[in-house]
Order: sequence, then C-alpha cells, then structure tokens
Amino acid sequence: MSTTDRQLRVGMVGYAFMGAAHSQAWRTVNRVFDLPARARMSLICGRDAGKVADAADRLGWDAYTTDWRDLIARDDIDVVDVCTPGDSHAEIALAALAAGKHVLCEKPLANTVSEARAMAAAAVTAQAAGVRSMCGFNYRRVPAVAMMRQFVADGRLGVIRHVRATYLQDWIVDPQFPLVWRLQRDKAGSGALGDIGAHIIDLTQYVTGRRITGVSAVTETFVKERPLPAGSSGLAATVDGAAVDGNGADGHRPATGAVTVDDAAVFVARLDGGVLATYEASRFATGRKNALRVEINGSLGTVAFDLERLNELEFYDATRPAGEQGFSRILVTEGEHPYMSAWWPPGHLIGYEHSFTHQARDFVEAVATGVDPAPSFVDGLQVQLVLDAVTRSAELGSSWTEVEPALATVAA
Ligand SMILES: NC(=O)c1ccc[n+]([C@@H]2O[C@H](COP(=O)([O-])OP(=O)(O)OC[C@H]3O[C@@H](n4cnc5c(N)ncnc54)[C@H](O)[C@@H]3O)[C@@H](O)[C@H]2O)c1
Repeated sequence: MSTTDRQLRVGMVGYAFMGAAHSQAWRTVNRVFDLPARARMSLICGRDAGKVADAADRLGWDAYTTDWRDLIARDDIDVVDVCTPGDSHAEIALAALAAGKHVLCEKPLANTVSEARAMAAAAVTAQAAGVRSMCGFNYRRVPAVAMMRQFVADGRLGVIRHVRATYLQDWIVDPQFPLVWRLQRDKAGSGALGDIGAHIIDLTQYVTGRRITGVSAVTETFVKERPLPAGSSGLAATVDGAAVDGNGADGHRPATGAVTVDDAAVFVARLDGGVLATYEASRFATGRKNALRVEINGSLGTVAFDLERLNELEFYDATRPAGEQGFSRILVTEGEHPYMSAWWPPGHLIGYEHSFTHQARDFVEAVATGVDPAPSFVDGLQVQLVLDAVTRSAELGSSWTEVEPALATVAA
C-alpha cells in the first residue's frame, strides 16, 4: 500500500482492449506497490458519449470526455495514457508533450518513421523540462523476461550468437473475419509486423542490449479482401448478420474492402556484436493464440521464454559438469525475482495483466522520482526503424536493408 499523498492524475484516451488492460493496471498499481506517488484514474476519453460514460463507470474512472483535446487542455491532468490505434498516437502524444504532460503511449509508437521521429524529438526536448515519456512495450515487464535480460547482462550466457523469436496468432485465419482497423494500413501502419512483430523486435533488443542493424524480409497478405465490420474491439469483431457464412442478413453479400497490411512477416537479421537472428510474426499460425517465444543462445548457455507459460524461464547452463547439463525450468515466482516480492508466495502464479501493472509501476516511479522511464520514445523509434526496414526489404525482393541507430536520426 502506498504511503504517499502525492498524486499523478491520469487521463487515458481509448477504452477498449488496451484501455481495459491499462485501467486494470492503474487501479491495481497503488494497492500492490509502495510508490512515491499514487496514480489517480481522473479522466477517460472516447468519442461516443454513451459508451465512454459506461466505460468510465465499469473501469473505475472519475470522469469522462469525448475529445482528447479537452483532456490535454485540463490543468488537473498530469499523465496522458494513449490507448488508441496507431493513426492517432503522434497527434495526441505531440500535443500532450507540448502541454507539459507526461505520456505513456501504446506500441508501436507510431504508424511511420517520420511520425515516430517527431515524437522521439519532442520527447527528448520535453525531458529538459522534466516531462517524461514511455512507449508501452509491456512484455519487458514480465518477470521472466526481466530475468532473461539480467542473465545476459550478468554474462551467464557468455557471447551471444543467436536470437530466435516468433510471435504467432491465428485470429484472422477465417477469410470472413472482417476488415478491422488492424488490417488497414492508414489506421495500423502495418499488419502482423507492427502489431506483434514490434513486440519481439523490442523484446530481443531489450534482453540482449543489442540493436538490430540490418534485415532481409518476406511478407505476405494471404487474404486480400474481407467483409467490412459492423463493430470491433481489440481482436474481436462482428459483421452484420454474417459472421459465419459471409452472407448478409438479407441474403446479400456484405460490402468488402481491401486488406492493405501484411498478414505475416518473416525476416532474418543481424544484431550488433555479431548476433544472427530470425523473426516470424503471423496472424495465420492456426492454433497459436498468443504464442510469443524467444530463445537466446550464447557460448555459455541458453535462455528460452514462452509467453503462454509466462511464469517460467528455461535455462541451459553449459558451465555445469557435462554429465549434469540439461535445460532447467525456473519458476519465476520467488520474492527475489523481478517485481515478484510485491505479489504472492512462491509458486502462486501471475498472468498477462500483471505486465501492465508492472509497466504502470515503473512509469509512476520514474515520473515521481524525476528519471526517464524505458522504453523511451527513442526506443520506440528504434523499433519503428526496424519495421520500416523490414517493409522496404520485402518490397525489394528481400534485399539486405540496413537499420539506422534511432538517436542519430533524432539528432539529424
Ligand atoms: N501492449 C500490448 O500488448 C498491446 C496489445 C493490444 C494492442 N496494443 C496497442 O494498443 C493500441 C490500441 O489497441 P486496442 O487493441 O486497444 O484497440 P481497440 O480497437 O480495442 O481500442 C481502441 C480504442 O481507441 C478509441 N479511439 C480510436 N480513435 C480515437 C480518437 N481519435 N479519440 C478517442 N478515442 C479513440 C476507440 O474508440 C477504442 O476505445 C494500439 O496501438 C495497439 O497496437 C498493445
């Protein structure tokens, strides 16, 4: 329980999938962690007055508004939490930073490199005035992932040789699944690549402490035309009377539209320090629901993580006597493990939403103590530069494409 009266008054834009996950985190964070400031759920924003009023009540916000500009204009908001699709991240975050608000922005940071660069530059400028910003790569906050990073940093893996990363889902295998915003380039920037590929790009750069320096990629859009949706939220959607057979309620086929993003992206990469890597992001991996897996091989050992078993870390320690070597399963629930002392006794597991609570914890602590949280907007730009290089490589027949260091491009 927090022992402070200091408050950080949060205003959140968007109240659907991530809005609900972030609300859960803001609700919980003060009750679990002892922090130098309390997050207050002051204001929630959505465009539909009735729906956002319901969301405010259901998710536990003090008040609501229907225009994010109101939220930014208010003096009694300290933090702007951006949980909208990528097409509005830049506009909202830039306005919030200019108004002196701390910003937590969902991933991917933006839809294009130029937007991400503007956001990173604004964040660097705002730092000088004590205004903080962070990009929401929440999987960094899974305790087993934080522990993987610690293993690498402590030299337990020796010289890193390989990174093997996949993020697989199957929610659009059905060709009648409607054309939601995630399948439209103008709204989402890219498809599986930016949505889930962005996570494994960030996670592997974070865990290894190395940057992706070049890529060779292929991408594919397996289903090029889909019915228009009646409504959507997160990964769920409906078509008017036609979710099953693709025919409208009156017997006519529903209107359709073109899918303008990738359904899957596969690429090989080099990370600095001589690391060879493979990445695969797909929404067509039938049977795989949210399968984020990362394996890192070094000269002294291997670590492997699987989000669908997120309390565990596999570790192979090649320094042990040959006769005792083998993969061990570490249950990452001890009080000495990252974040875990605040939760339950050893072996009492945590889940998906805890990564968002840990993200809120780290953000509140950084803002309240006047340090810059990570991942920064510059880190978000670094991921965006990789996404862009993958797209360009795929367009050019998989040609090798270099990735610039983000900081250099912000300064330029
Ligand atoms: N960190 C993660 O693991 C994770 C998971 C899913 C989504 N995301 C990211 O979160 C963001 C939102 O995704 P989602 O799945 O929550 O989408 P969603 O469709 O479930 O929700 C989007 C919300 O934004 C609102 N919105 C859209 N434009 C708006 C505007 N101009 N003003 C006010 N509200 C607006 C919608 O009404 C809705 O409430 C995306 O950037 C996505 O990539 C991150």
